[in-house]
Parts: sequence; C-alpha cells; structure tokens
Amino acid sequence: MIRLAVRAARADAPALLAELLVFSPAGLEEVDIDDETVEYAIYGAPGALPSAAELAANSDVALLAVHTSEVADDWSERWREFHQPTVVSERLYVRPPWLPPRRQSDRGAPLIDLVIEPGQAFGTGAHATTRLCLELLVARERDGAAHGSLLDLGCGSGVLAIAAAKLGWSPVTALDHEAESVAAARANAEANAVAITVRRADLHTDALDPAQTVVANLLRPLLLELSARLEHRPRYLIASGLLADQGDELAAELAARHGLQERRRERDGDWLALAFEPAA
Ligand SMILES: C[S@@+](CC[C@H](N)C(=O)[O-])C[C@H]1O[C@@H](n2cnc3c(N)ncnc32)[C@H](O)[C@@H]1O
Repeated sequence: MIRLAVRAARADAPALLAELLVFSPAGLEEVDIDDETVEYAIYGAPGALPSAAELAANSDVALLAVHTSEVADDWSERWREFHQPTVVSERLYVRPPWLPPRRQSDRGAPLIDLVIEPGQAFGTGAHATTRLCLELLVARERDGAAHGSLLDLGCGSGVLAIAAAKLGWSPVTALDHEAESVAAARANAEANAVAITVRRADLHTDALDPAQTVVANLLRPLLLELSARLEHRPRYLIASGLLADQGDELAAELAARHGLQERRRERDGDWLALAFEPAA
C-alpha cells in the first residue's frame, strides 16, 4: 500500500483538497505541519495513485512537497482506525458501520445514531467542513424553527441529508454529479432507514429544487455561482467549505442578491461555515 503525501500553503488547501478528492473521494488524512503549511495524504495500491511527478505536473496548486512511502499491508485495520466516530453538538453520533451505536453522550444527552459507510464518496462526518454543517443543522433545530423541506447540494455520502431527515426535515433532496456519490447516498439512506430523494445533477447547469433549507458544503467558486443560480430564497442556508477569509465575500453576495443575512459563523481550524436567514 502506498501513502502519497502532498504539502501546500494553507491558503491553497481547498484547491488541493478538491484535486486530491478525485483520487480518494472517501477522505484524506489532513496533517497540520505548521501555521503556514498543511499536508494531505491519500492511500492506494501501487499503480492506483498518480506518481509524484504526475501530480506536480497536473496540479494548479503550488505544491511545496510531494512524497510517497510504502505502508504496511494491514491496510484494512488502518482504514478502520482512520475512520473514527464523531459526536456532534451533543446531538448526533456519526459512525462507520463496524462500530456499535452509541445512545448517550458523555454528558448523558441522547444521541441520534447515523451510520455512514466510508466508501467512494466524501463525507464521513469527520472532516471539519462536514462537521460544521452538522453543527449548524443542530443549531437550527434548537432554534425551534419549523423544519420543512431541505436541499443538500453536493451530497457526497449523503451524511448531511440523512442527518437532516433524522432531525426532522422533510422532504429531503440530495444532489451530486458523481455517480458514486449518488449510489453511496442512496445506500447510506437505506442503512439509516430514512426516506430521501437522491438525484444525479450538475450544480453548474441543472435546475435547483426550491427548498426551505439549503445546505451546501462546496468550495468558494461554486458557492458564489450557486448564489447567482438560486431562484428561490431559502429560510435557512448553510454554506461550508470556505476558508476563514472567504466568508465576508459570500455574505455580501447573498445579502445583495437574496436579502439573506448572516446568522451564524462557525470556524474549525482554517475552515469556515456560515448560516443565513432572510433579513427581518
Ligand atoms: C466537500 S464534498 C461534501 C460532501 C457532503 N455533503 C459532506 O458535507 O460531507 C462536495 C461534494 O460536492 C460534489 N460536487 C462538486 N461539484 C459538483 C457539481 N458541479 N455538481 C454536483 N455536485 C458537485 C462532489 O462530488 C462532492 O461529493
């Protein structure tokens, strides 16, 4: 088994992440090297990963270092260690299928169980951008606002759509352009016994269903493009996948175009997620 590690400046992390996810949609190892530098590592059989030279030649990011190493073939064990369960906001427990459900948090709060197979789609709940979205969904639930319909733009494994359905949103629609994501989201919905609609759609071109809540864990350029494409103003909109210095730009765009006002701003390391509501 090969470990391919790539380092870049923190400002380039989203672009590098997007490039590497093509090779490892189920997730990457993210290592903080220092204040300025981040490392991503992907794993695969020899020949299944790009070579260091190919990666450097085809990347739009200024790569600081690319390094391959061989790792022991106890890969399935390491894979399992890599996918740890996570408790979100004392409300959700997101776990891989080989771990048992957990019904209570350490502080005794009842937990909603979410089982997500870390297969060929992004979104095990462990990545900061996903976790921030889950936190903002729970925060909305705690507002006591009516749930209503929800649209998950770029659903990956379906983790956000499934969490929303379990928290009471209905109907829930999840869109992704990757066939693997659509298949994974459907399988995960079935494993969690929730009814959601999962459709293959390209967010650049296909129609976006109107919904009372919209959640989008994407990157800055697509979030800005979607703001321009959104025809119906949601009552709650969660945008994640932004770097810390990219929040104000999206907030200004959503305010100008849709009259949406920033309601919450959550940060985890370099990553930022925002929640918006119509201005009063
Ligand atoms: C960062 S992942 C988020 C996955 C999941 N929602 C989560 O929060 O963990 C972004 C997802 O958006 C999808 N995506 C990216 N560009 C897209 C596009 N143009 N149309 C549809 N889906 C897209 C990717 O396939 C990927 O599954």
